[in-house]
Amino acid sequence: MRGLKGRDLLSISDLSREELVYILEVSKMLKGRYYAGEVIIPLLNGKTLAMIFQKPSTRTRVSFEVAMYQLGGYALYLNWNDLQLGRGESIADTARVLSRYVNGITARVLKHTDLEELAKYSSVPVINALSDLEHPCQALADVLTIWEKKGRLEGIKLAFVGDGSDNVLHSLLLACAKLGINISIATPPGYEPKKEILRIAEEEGSRYGSLIEIVREPEVAVRGADVIYTDVWVSMGQESERAKRISDLSRYRVTVDLMKLAKEDAIFMHCLPARRGEEVVDEVIDGKWSVVWDQAENRLHVQKALLSLLL
Ligand code: CP
Ligand code: NVA
Repeated sequence: MRGLKGRDLLSISDLSREELVYILEVSKMLKGRYYAGEVIIPLLNGKTLAMIFQKPSTRTRVSFEVAMYQLGGYALYLNWNDLQLGRGESIADTARVLSRYVNGITARVLKHTDLEELAKYSSVPVINALSDLEHPCQALADVLTIWEKKGRLEGIKLAFVGDGSDNVLHSLLLACAKLGINISIATPPGYEPKKEILRIAEEEGSRYGSLIEIVREPEVAVRGADVIYTDVWVSMGQESERAKRISDLSRYRVTVDLMKLAKEDAIFMHCLPARRGEEVVDEVIDGKWSVVWDQAENRLHVQKALLSLLL
């Protein structure tokens, strides 16, 4: 395994299977130490992280900021429009300048290509805090949660119900493929995962024993599933497509009846924020199946691992 120090994390495919597992192990270790009372572990003493946000955030912003604090470092929240970026300074110039001040950059952007541009001109690691294409930090926290709840990853069946072209699903698909998690995606025509992501996932899936299928009926996807996962039907930046998306995806709601078709001990996951009553009903997200709060908490532990390894 080559070292992770100094590397970018724009996509789950930037990580080998070995590296992914290693990040999960470090996350688990840091979480254990946190619960044992070691809240501050100064692995990043004196280090700084710039956090650029072009879209709103609750979990990602707060967990990154708290992670840096707990590692002895410091995080700066930078709203895209408050930076000179908002007035047209180039991404390349911004990257060059920030690299002279900070030890790492995390960015949430509308266009994934902007993130690639940022990484190209930064001399410090760049971490994807969500783009239109992927949300790798979320997927890492998700697989950690599955590992904790199910005690294993290989052979688990995850059913994703909803928008198959979702950024969170793209990262999750790549992570599942690498970890031998089977994934069944229930999505309507025209909402399939991006071809290139699916191609990589299928290639890795065949190497690591993960079966990937795309089906039309939610009832088929959830049959025998250990994990039911969904995300919003209208992601940030897609607001103008709202009416069409709601109508196309209305059959893909996670309901109590749907949960009952999965395994007896199935869990329900959602990256949050949820649109209650749209992709999931209250009875499920607040019900016995739901692990969404543990899942959200794991963002903190995983990002502590990531930051300490990359920075
Ligand atoms: N899941 C997630 O990334 O949440 P935020 O948009 O609140 O950061
Ligand atoms: N797919 C959602 C995820 C939010 C964390 C979005 O991009 O808005």
